[in-house]
Amino acid sequence: MAEPAAPPGRVALAVLISGRGSNMAAIARAAAAPDYPARIVLVAADRRHAPGLEIARTLGLPTTVVPHRDFATRQAFEEALDGVLRAARAELVALAGFLRVLTPWFVGRWRGRILNIHPSLLPRHPGLNPHARAIDAGDSESGCTVHEVTEGVDAGPILAQARVPVLPDDTPERLAARVLAEEHRLYPLAIADFVRHRLQRAGPREEPPRGALAL
Ligand code: GAR
Repeated sequence: MAEPAAPPGRVALAVLISGRGSNMAAIARAAAAPDYPARIVLVAADRRHAPGLEIARTLGLPTTVVPHRDFATRQAFEEALDGVLRAARAELVALAGFLRVLTPWFVGRWRGRILNIHPSLLPRHPGLNPHARAIDAGDSESGCTVHEVTEGVDAGPILAQARVPVLPDDTPERLAARVLAEEHRLYPLAIADFVRHRLQRAGPREEPPRGALAL
């Protein structure tokens, strides 16, 4: 089953995906450097045919699927997800295009240990279709935000942002591509920064997180 937690100095990171997985791949590329402070112990998808799963396998990463459709309730799905994360001895969870909203129960279990990237300059345009909304609003710039996950959708403390211009002839697709290039740069850096400055200050851990650790 899962490998043991990361060796001393490297935090065990699980990446949750629903689709393409390009942010996951960017994190994996960064984590291949020996001095990166986290290593990926699991890539988990909520759908069997997420293209990112194949990319993860190609990169030699452990993968698993917790298909949300197989569960009668959100709680049952999240208990299964929590189970695979704990079995992998994950210490930090990065949402990377993971399209399920997590319940307060799950967020509480992993409080202070879940990060997300969202393709807008939060607090502007949380939720769906941020690129179209940035264009429709006449915003002159957009970007991406790495934040801690809390109970509110895209509402947790902001850790890092990167900005791009919104151009006069932009479509949501063109803007998304410009933002995505920044996501790939920002997310690995923000995770490393979070691990170095927040998680490791909390000291070594014997047990999987229970949501009570003060960071
Ligand atoms: C990324 O743009 C990410 O910011 C976005 O989904 C895309 C996933 O791409 N996430 C959200 O909109 C979450 N609210 P990827 O699967 O290639 O990383």
